[in-house]
Amino acid sequence: MKITITAIKADTGSLGGHVVPDPKMKEAISKLMEAEKGVTIIDYHIQSVGDDIAIIMSHTHGEDCEQIHELGWKAFLKSTEIAKTLGLYGAGQDLLADSFSGNIRGMGPAIAEMEIEERPGETVVLFQADKTEPGAYNLPLYLMFNDPMHNPGLMLSPKMKDGFTFEIIDVEETEVNSIVSLNAPEEIYDIAALIRNNHKFIVEKVFSRTTGEIAAVNCTTRLNLIAGKYVGKDDPIMLVRAQGIFPATGEILSPFTLAHYVSGFMRGSHHGPLKPVKVNGGLSFFDGPPIVSACAFNVKNGKFTTFIDCFADQFWDTIRNKANQKALYIREQGFSGPAMLEDKELEYGGITDKLDRLKGRFEARAKALNKKIKN
Ligand code: F6R
Ligand code: MG
Ligand code: MG
Repeated sequence: MKITITAIKADTGSLGGHVVPDPKMKEAISKLMEAEKGVTIIDYHIQSVGDDIAIIMSHTHGEDCEQIHELGWKAFLKSTEIAKTLGLYGAGQDLLADSFSGNIRGMGPAIAEMEIEERPGETVVLFQADKTEPGAYNLPLYLMFNDPMHNPGLMLSPKMKDGFTFEIIDVEETEVNSIVSLNAPEEIYDIAALIRNNHKFIVEKVFSRTTGEIAAVNCTTRLNLIAGKYVGKDDPIMLVRAQGIFPATGEILSPFTLAHYVSGFMRGSHHGPLKPVKVNGGLSFFDGPPIVSACAFNVKNGKFTTFIDCFADQFWDTIRNKANQKALYIREQGFSGPAMLEDKELEYGGITDKLDRLKGRFEARAKALNKKIKN
């Protein structure tokens, strides 16, 4: 059976700052989704990470279906209404348009969508991150699909021997979708050369070279590139298929043991470690650190099983401790050097304003001339 999984997420307001949405917001979304179950959608699941709510829907209408996108949009309008009524902070923050215009892409919420031919025992892992950007998944995707240190299946299983194709998008090209398709393992150095830049080149999709099937889809929204000004970080959502011709769930999770440094954190303007957390949790320190959750689930005829919280196990406490340490280490140097993002990636205009203002205060002074000792 051909089904589509659509995962949409947005920050529509939260409690106590940019920390966690109110449960009533999720209830309002759930009510709307329940009414659509068996009508427009087959099934749905709602969760949050940090201040972002994610809605995962299954249906048979394919990708970019107007009615499905509109349903997601309406759901976030509902949660915004509740946030406004309760007086929560940042109500409707990610809803950049006044009215729905056919496709939710470019309207603020992030979306990861894949149409698949459902396998027996179809297994999917959903990632949801907060206080970071879609490029935060670049390194984990590279490692889970290319590196036998994390994915020994690349050596052990004949099903993955042909490798994977990476579709990488240049998100700074806003006029067109500028995408390059590169094959691993032959072109892994080219892939690495692009995706080391998490702001510009983002892995959007990964395909199996054994069957051509979609393996992973990442959202590639950059809110500031849409709105042209700071409107919050993009807090990415991603779907990865697991097992069989795809990496095992454990191979998919393995790169998250790195707690690698990503952009985001306080005011979307710092580097911090990507900390694996339990679902529905909030933030703790310096509006961060950047956090990521993972849920594994199965789909049968479009119906979802229970979502398993992959980072709930105490194993991940060790990684959380490591991430906390890494956060403290980089925070020790405050605004200096690599702790803060380069000028162009800062999410607020304060520093560029200061630099502009100070430009006129610089004065040209004559360069010192070398003097020679006179005999
Ligand atoms: C980062 C984020 C927060 C806010 C910070 C200030 O993505 O959402 O770190 O930037 O709490 O928020 P405002 O400017 O809304 O007071
Ligand atoms: Mg927010
Ligand atoms: Mg957020």
